[in-house]
Amino acid sequence: MSSRYLVTGGAGFIGSALVRALLDRRDGSVAVLDNLLTGREENLSELAGHFEFVRGDIRNASAVERAVAGATHVFHLAAIPSVPRSIDDPVPSHEVNIDGTFNVLRACAAARVSRLVYAASSSAYGDTEVLPKVESMLPRPKSPYAAQKLMGEYYCSVFSSCFGLETVALRFFNVYGPRQDPSSPYSGVLSLFMKALIARTSPTIFGDGEQSRDFTYVEDVASLVIKAAFAPNVSGNVYNAGNGNRYTLNQVWRELEKIEGVSLPPRYGPPRAGDVRDSQADTTAARRDLAHDPRFTLEEGLRRTLAWYRENLAEANTAR
Ligand code: NAD
Ligand code: UD1
Repeated sequence: MSSRYLVTGGAGFIGSALVRALLDRRDGSVAVLDNLLTGREENLSELAGHFEFVRGDIRNASAVERAVAGATHVFHLAAIPSVPRSIDDPVPSHEVNIDGTFNVLRACAAARVSRLVYAASSSAYGDTEVLPKVESMLPRPKSPYAAQKLMGEYYCSVFSSCFGLETVALRFFNVYGPRQDPSSPYSGVLSLFMKALIARTSPTIFGDGEQSRDFTYVEDVASLVIKAAFAPNVSGNVYNAGNGNRYTLNQVWRELEKIEGVSLPPRYGPPRAGDVRDSQADTTAARRDLAHDPRFTLEEGLRRTLAWYRENLAEANTAR
């Protein structure tokens, strides 16, 4: 039987990379469910005709049921993915990230989907005394967003144990790469760094810039997500989806200045509420159970990402 893949949030940054990776497999059909809140159809434009696009909201249970019908594997990435946005405006984040996730899980259990892979978040760990962060550590979420994504993990595990739905939750660490939307103050830091670098302006860093992240290239994440959909004996589990390294924001900005051959000293602002100080994945379990094998060093990932922004931000500016 050929597979039928559904990607919620498939018009987003990571979701669109996953749609590309799934279509490359040529072993089934692909559908996307997205309400285009932060996602864009342009992220999938060159794939038009090769997948089905359903514009719909995961807060609407019947829209979710219709989209899930017939799917063999569901990749649940739709979310409002920003820590500060969940503090400034917590209700929509709660409704999408918790209630929406519940709707997706219920629909998948009812439709007897073979497996659901959930985009969980390393933010669930909060500040731990020990690095790297291991799945066995007690989660200590520091923001509404982190608590919401953790609740999604718990629901995945419970749907696996109580309702017979196979689930795998992957705690993505900070993902970066082409198509990460730099247009909002809530955008991921590396997309904002890319935009500043190309415009030759200084980036704003919240705090002293010595906070660190395990920046993970989007193609490495997409390939791990697909491995998680097929690995045996992993249902109900949670895995780190990171690189295993960590870099401070100051280090990353210096690396970008070096690649581009410029000097643009950052502006420093007050630290952000809900911010985790350091983040680094222990990748042992994902390597062992899911054959996780990240391919991109930070330097290679930054070069590829910068090349994409250079081409596409320039195009967006000329189109205006
Ligand atoms: P994104 O904003 O590009 O993608 C989210 C997608 O979900 C968008 O296409 C958006 O339109 C869609 N969406 C939002 N609300 C929806 C709703 N109510 N109904 C249907 N679709 C809706 O962000 P991303 O960085 O690609 O994040 C994808 C997933 O990965 C999210 O679940 C996020 O929590 C998780 N994640 C991301 C990172 C990261 O570093 N980017 C790290 C950890 C976890
Ligand atoms: C990010 C993801 C979140 C994910 C989490 C997993 C986004 C928008 N957020 O959260 O979905 O679950 O990783 O670890 O993709 N910063 C600046 N200047 C800026 C913007 C941010 O200094 O202009 C700082 C922040 O204060 C923070 C760091 O950069 O210390 C990273 O911020 P951000 O990119 O928003 O990601 P996280 O909050 O780590």
